[in-house]
Amino acid sequence: MAYMQWRSTLEVGHAQIDSEHQSLVEVLNRLHAAMKQGKGKDEIEKVLVFLKDYTVGHFKAEEALMMSHRYPGAQMHMAIHADLVKQVAQLVTDYRAGKTVLTGAVLDFLETWLVKHIMSEDKLLGEFLRAKGSVA
Ligand SMILES: [Fe+2]
Ligand SMILES: [Fe+2]
Repeated sequence: MAYMQWRSTLEVGHAQIDSEHQSLVEVLNRLHAAMKQGKGKDEIEKVLVFLKDYTVGHFKAEEALMMSHRYPGAQMHMAIHADLVKQVAQLVTDYRAGKTVLTGAVLDFLETWLVKHIMSEDKLLGEFLRAKGSVA
């Protein structure tokens, strides 16, 4: 069974953002599966790095939408993105250095930030984009 299930309550109503969020959930599930299957450090590190890179790309895409639609909350939202990227990048660094062992607690931390960010900042952005007629 997957670690985290995509649910409609996570939808922000913008097709591109929602599909990227679904991909993020999938990557979290891949990370969980790799852990469960006792995959080696290199394998797990690859998934972690993919998660970090995908997150960076996703945040850039959201930020491009904010810019092109002159989103008033852009600065605050971007600051939160920067902070999240810092945390995930630190996780990769620590994992690489053998300072962090990937545990359920680390996965829970990743799930919590993802869900919390989607449910607050991304929902607001989704509402704004919908009001602007941007749903794709
Ligand atoms: Fe966001
Ligand atoms: Fe997002």
